Amino acid sequence: MKQTYCINELAQDGFGIRLEFASGDLEDVLAICSANADVILSRFYAARGLMLIEGMHGVFKHPRALVELSRLFGSEVENYHQTLTSPRFFHDSEEEILILSNEPPCNHPPPPRSHDDGLKVQFPHQVNWHSDQSYRRPPPDITLLLAVRTPPPDQGQTLVADCTSACAALKPETRERLRHLNGIHAPSWVGRSREAVEKGEPILDLLPHQLPQRHPIVRRHPVSGEESLFVCEEKQMDFVDGPVVELETGLDGEGARLIRELLAHSTQEKFVYSHQWQVGDLLITDNRNLLHCATWYDADSYSRLMWRTTVLGNPGHEYAGEKKSWIPEDGSKIMAGMDHA
Ligand SMILES: [Fe+2]
Repeated sequence: MKQTYCINELAQDGFGIRLEFASGDLEDVLAICSANADVILSRFYAARGLMLIEGMHGVFKHPRALVELSRLFGSEVENYHQTLTSPRFFHDSEEEILILSNEPPCNHPPPPRSHDDGLKVQFPHQVNWHSDQSYRRPPPDITLLLAVRTPPPDQGQTLVADCTSACAALKPETRERLRHLNGIHAPSWVGRSREAVEKGEPILDLLPHQLPQRHPIVRRHPVSGEESLFVCEEKQMDFVDGPVVELETGLDGEGARLIRELLAHSTQEKFVYSHQWQVGDLLITDNRNLLHCATWYDADSYSRLMWRTTVLGNPGHEYAGEKKSWIPEDGSKIMAGMDHA
């Protein structure tokens, strides 16, 4: 039988795969993925949850295909209309597709420039390392990110850190200590990030479904069974009541020092894959065991437009039976006071 697709390694040490197809036809790609889902998913998880598919330009005219492809990775694709998101940030016809762009109506500013010349990947030279929506319980499993318009390849890259390998590289006694700790994650716009606390910004009053959420610092992946580190950028952790439960709070407390140490450890060059975007690239990342960030780009000269879906439904045993923390139960407005979401 004719070979319809192949899977190759993407980065060093078996981190990531590249999925390639003999046909460039979008319908063929979807059919092949569906027919071979078991094999593709097992290779994806064996490669620690990172996958690249190039040449997905066909999705631009058929955005529903991105949602269909997302369903391979889990039962539920987030509908951004039903959750915490303002309409200007999601696709006109597909409410499951989030729009990330410096163009209107999103107007997202570009990420800050690295503190050194050239591409430095390691925190704190590179900032904004995060796992998507970690301020929710349960957090999403998988993110699919499609490049629609890109700046030059040496700008606006996406960096991905392999926190499974980072966890395995810790001393056993350090890992054992971390297994007993929980981080407190909060959205960047509620006055609890490092920057907000430094500037003395007001801490927003939050409704119950908007409150910061706790996650184990060491998470066990529900599919691979491997442990990984789960801490986020300083924009996405709570520096008022945390960032680590039961450790000294605040900007320079024991919790903050631990988070910085773990971020620097996890984002060492040897754990990081750097993706230079081409239009039509689809990058799929597992939020349960990876961190990612975007690098600076010249937003005055270039557009960067990405379509994103997030898949949820299998966060692991720590979340068994939990209701979604971000869905209000009392009829309160989901967006109340959170216009930046
Ligand atoms: Fe992200």
